Amino acid sequence: MIQAAIFGFGNIGSGVAAVLEENCKQVAKAVPGGIHVKYILDIRDFPDSPFADRIVHDIDVILSDPEIKVVCETMGGKEPAFTFSKRALEKGISVCSSNKELVEAFGPELLRIASENHCSYLFEASVGGGIPLLTPLLQNLAQEEIQSVTGILNGTTNYILTKMERYGADYAQVLKEAQDLGYAERNPAADVEGHDTGRKISIISSLISGKTIRFDDIYTEGITKITPVDFTWAKANGYSIKLLGRSKKAADPSGDGTAQIEVMTAPFLVKEGHPLYGVCDVFNGVLVHGNMVDDVMFYGRGAGKLPTGSAVVADMILAAKNIGQTVPVEWNPEVLVPVPSGECINAFFVRMNSTDAEKTRTVFADKISAVWSAQDDAEFVFVTCQMQENCFFDLLGKAGEALSVIRVL
Ligand SMILES: NC(=O)c1ccc[n+]([C@@H]2O[C@H](COP(=O)([O-])OP(=O)(O)OC[C@H]3O[C@@H](n4cnc5c(N)ncnc54)[C@H](OP(=O)(O)O)[C@@H]3O)[C@@H](O)[C@H]2O)c1
Repeated sequence: MIQAAIFGFGNIGSGVAAVLEENCKQVAKAVPGGIHVKYILDIRDFPDSPFADRIVHDIDVILSDPEIKVVCETMGGKEPAFTFSKRALEKGISVCSSNKELVEAFGPELLRIASENHCSYLFEASVGGGIPLLTPLLQNLAQEEIQSVTGILNGTTNYILTKMERYGADYAQVLKEAQDLGYAERNPAADVEGHDTGRKISIISSLISGKTIRFDDIYTEGITKITPVDFTWAKANGYSIKLLGRSKKAADPSGDGTAQIEVMTAPFLVKEGHPLYGVCDVFNGVLVHGNMVDDVMFYGRGAGKLPTGSAVVADMILAAKNIGQTVPVEWNPEVLVPVPSGECINAFFVRMNSTDAEKTRTVFADKISAVWSAQDDAEFVFVTCQMQENCFFDLLGKAGEALSVIRVL
């Protein structure tokens, strides 16, 4: 039996305890004797919880117990999660985290400390909640040259966009409904401004490149400007609108083999028939393209107590099976700056007032690949061909003020 502890008994921490309890037989098949939660660290007491007798408020109680071999960090935020994780790793205790903010900011450092202390730092649950994604990327797809990863990585924004599409509802109205249902936080910025997706695509990009791609270097755009009218146009032309995190290998113009990568978080029009088109509500979907395996799709619940708790427990099992050694995760601290967004290649959906139609047609000329509006429409709506973003915004500046601009996948 492996003795474990939970740091942070909130949504996910209590999910970890529930998964270990309810699925103890399944866990014991993988780890002889199973994994037993000996301590739970939290600020609060939980007198009504069946785990009330295991709550402690002092981390040293856990770190000074030589029986503890694995902990899960489900506290969230950078501090004290970083200090607590570091101290556990320095004691040779493996740490399994669901905390994307911490992983994005300190992943390579915590991995190094784990390796120096013959234990593991694992973070499957930090991206895609319950969906096994990072481990398959690192293990089952290790032989692949990953050419792109495109994902719907945030359940809250996918829920909001799905409702806007289905019911023609306004963004603010759906956000309020999502908050009332507990799907969106009272301060929804991290979700709706794209930061949560950005952190996740930063972690994915770092793992597929083996270097560090910082969230701060990634172009990040949220969903706050998407309107019901955008959906009307998209729907009428066989598209949906999804917030995507996208990472793709870029052309190597210098030809010197220098790795280049385009990374972006933004809303995209996604065509019917594309594997991500049908990923709706709170679900997440991630499409990986490898040079040999072609397309591989991951789909499931990207958040929630039990799905995310399940992913944390998967890591705890892996760590428990590797006591005394480090489960390898290649992530070099060397920073790789992605291609500037202006140099990325994309197609765009554009809505203009029809009064600007003639000028826009002249300015964009052969860069327009399809016009969606009829001549007597109040709006001039078109889709461009694939072009450099700098070039697109330059032309748009000459054409007039757009009512809406959304990239097209
Ligand atoms: N919710 C999801 O579906 C989901 C999915 C994937 C990943 N994650 C990530 O998982 C992490 C946890 O999320 P969550 O939703 O479970 O958050 P949560 O419900 O707020 O749980 C965090 C828990 O940690 C406790 N805590 C905070 N600071 C502490 C400290 N200094 N010492 C001891 N305990 C402390 C909190 O206590 P108080 O409540 O008293 O502050 C709370 O009980 C976050 O990084 C989140 O991004 C969440």
